[in-house]
Amino acid sequence: MIHTRVIVVKNPEEMGVIAADHFEAMIQTKPACVIGLATGSTPLPLYRELAKREKEGKIDFSRVRSANLDEYKGLAPDHEQSYRKFMQDNLFDHISIKPENTIVPDGLATDVQAMCEAYEAQIEAWGGVDLQLLGIGHDGHIGFNEPDDHFPAMTHEVKLTEMTIDANKRFFDSIDDVPKSAFTMGIGTIMAAKKIVMVVTGADKKEILKKTFWGPVDPQVPASILQFHPNVVLICDEAAYPF
Ligand code: GLP
Repeated sequence: MIHTRVIVVKNPEEMGVIAADHFEAMIQTKPACVIGLATGSTPLPLYRELAKREKEGKIDFSRVRSANLDEYKGLAPDHEQSYRKFMQDNLFDHISIKPENTIVPDGLATDVQAMCEAYEAQIEAWGGVDLQLLGIGHDGHIGFNEPDDHFPAMTHEVKLTEMTIDANKRFFDSIDDVPKSAFTMGIGTIMAAKKIVMVVTGADKKEILKKTFWGPVDPQVPASILQFHPNVVLICDEAAYPF
């Protein structure tokens, strides 16, 4: 563990409050900031808290831009299980962010390389990600960067591992409906964010959390690269904290 600041909270609700403080501070300092967003169940208390704070007049999302980490290959934006739909349902439809200021990789892209390059170019045109939110998969994936023999740099297509397909089948009618591939920001894209907040809750994440921040930096544990980022805040609950 080199630079990471660790905040241990009681439960997922408190995680949501503390993580929201970081987003509120960023948006207050820079009203047109660029935030990187994540899906999964872990960020949900944070998204509820952000929507609540905007209703209370504490945050204003009207100038904020957002770029999501990833999307399933082959799912249309309005597909029930697409990450675009997840973001609409759980955050965007409840805050004042402008639709044109939100980007999610295009699950239906046919020219994959062009889509990935355009995604990177849009983030760069916005001036880069100011604050990136991350969850973590049980195998240490961030976005959909799965364990590998190297750290992939830019937005690209990935083949999902059996473990990830299995973990995500709960959202689909059957395991056969889970897409086998996805598009994700690369490790380089993620590491270029000026600040990163990682949220981790639940005892099932304890083991991977220990490997990530207290083990060697290894592309087989993709999130371990975060040890080399100068501005990471890890917010985890007592159940996930390994010590
Ligand atoms: C998916 C997403 C990740 C997320 C992970 C963990 O694989 N692509 O960005 O971090 O799920 O999800 P959960 O928070 O539900 O455990």
